[in-house]
Amino acid sequence: MGEYAIQMLGITKAFPGIIANDNITLEVKKNEVHALLGENGAGKSTLMSVLFGAYSADSGKILINGNEVTIKNPNVATELGIGMVHQHFKLVHNYTVTENIVLGREPRNAFGILKLKDAEEKVAALSKQYGLAVDPKAKIEDITVGQQQRVEILKTLYSDSEIIIFDEPTAVLTPQEIDELMDIIRKLKQEGKTIVLITHKLKEIKAVADRCSVLRRGKYIGTVDVDKVTEQELADMMVGRAVKFEIDKSPANPGEVMLSVKNLNVKDANGIQKIHDLSIDVRAGEIVGIAGVDGNGQSELLQGLCGLLPVESGQILLDGEDITKMTIRQRIEKGLGHIPEDRHKHGMVGDFTLSENVALKDYYTDRYAGKYGMLNFSEMDTIADELIEQFDVRAGQGHATKAGSLSGGNQQKVIVAREISLSPKVLMIAQPTRGLDVGAIEYIRKRIIAERDKGRAILLVSFELDEIMNLCDRIATISKGQIVGIFNAGEVTERDIGLMMASSEHKE
Ligand SMILES: Nc1ncnc2c1ncn2[C@@H]1O[C@H](COP(=O)(O)OP(=O)(O)OP(=O)(O)O)[C@@H](O)[C@H]1O
Ligand SMILES: [Mg+2]
Repeated sequence: MGEYAIQMLGITKAFPGIIANDNITLEVKKNEVHALLGENGAGKSTLMSVLFGAYSADSGKILINGNEVTIKNPNVATELGIGMVHQHFKLVHNYTVTENIVLGREPRNAFGILKLKDAEEKVAALSKQYGLAVDPKAKIEDITVGQQQRVEILKTLYSDSEIIIFDEPTAVLTPQEIDELMDIIRKLKQEGKTIVLITHKLKEIKAVADRCSVLRRGKYIGTVDVDKVTEQELADMMVGRAVKFEIDKSPANPGEVMLSVKNLNVKDANGIQKIHDLSIDVRAGEIVGIAGVDGNGQSELLQGLCGLLPVESGQILLDGEDITKMTIRQRIEKGLGHIPEDRHKHGMVGDFTLSENVALKDYYTDRYAGKYGMLNFSEMDTIADELIEQFDVRAGQGHATKAGSLSGGNQQKVIVAREISLSPKVLMIAQPTRGLDVGAIEYIRKRIIAERDKGRAILLVSFELDEIMNLCDRIATISKGQIVGIFNAGEVTERDIGLMMASSEHKE
């Protein structure tokens, strides 16, 4: 028996205009946790999709447990004992947990009747063995994102995968869920599994990985033993230059109140009240952060403000004007910008090009007016080109690239670029750096501060306390749909805020 579970040798995979994987070699030892690190668009998801049989490589070979294999499709990968937990989950929402897990390999009796009971028992046993708490009979639409991820993990265990690939599993999780996942990964290792973990969070690599391979712009850079390097060394290796974790910023110079929220009440889509009598002001030239445990009304607050959810009662003033009852478009025209939490649902259209996505919110304005009532397409392309350049969006075909084909982090950069370029008076931002690499995080944070210094009022929601501490001038803690404390930055420590959040913890 050889030393390696996976050997990918000289893998090359090109897409139109870009070589996503350029002669990459990745060797993963049996029973290790192997981290895969690299900038947004470096080629990590592509490489793992080749391993999982979702893409076929242009050249190179793959060995599993020392034997050369051809992985034509994901079914072959499953037979070889390879499972993948995808960056964007692939679950059927109106099916139960068990139905999703057995999908495509349903156990049937001699008469072809589904034996769901047996499957439910096997799922329950696996979930107990690995500490993956989830109700086998619950519907996917009724469980949290963290639980959905457990379903994806159970799916790989159900088909006896010995190798499990995690593609950015923590990007969608709250800090609490991340700790739980780290424990699950340790448990999987104990049970003898081999794990590949893609993540941008160096802390996580330090916490669970044995070795780490780094990719940069489609090329293999090297592999290191995790306990022999610091987080800073990993970051520098991945970006190819020195990265700064702390952002320099001068004290805020707040002006007039730009956003004033008074006694707001908002119900979620199911009619459950999530925002209770909430009031908050944001001034021009300051960043106000909302800190809190996920599920305490952060999403509903932003959705109520931007018009995605109706307001039951209360008032929203933007630069002194009442926008409470305005349509979404009217609010945008009045100067409300929004970088949404769910970039696929509310941020972009995957089948549109980058030019179209950049113009999505103001295509009908003079900015894009061409001759004879037509859109000025060349202006659209020019504006998109400028943003691609400024925000370092890695796109194979420039402004003509379809947004859906971008890597996860590059999609996020496009949305941030568009919202900032619209120069809103008030910019609401949810999880701005989710899924971004450390270099991109540094840039986006600098841009947010630059926008503040131009006099924009910024309301920031983030689950990452260090992001809140790094960026905000004032910090409000939210609990059960109410602001329970508001502080000037510098007057509180990360620990104070953390304790306050924990003591008022509330989960759905
Ligand atoms: N189906 C596709 N069609 C065209 N281009 C693609 C496709 N999939 C990926 N690419 C391109 O290949 C490159 C590598 O993308 P990949 O998704 O592998 O990056 P990544 O390292 O996973 O990045 P991230 O950290 O942002 O998820 C990117 O430039 C991306 O635009
Ligand atoms: Mg990816």
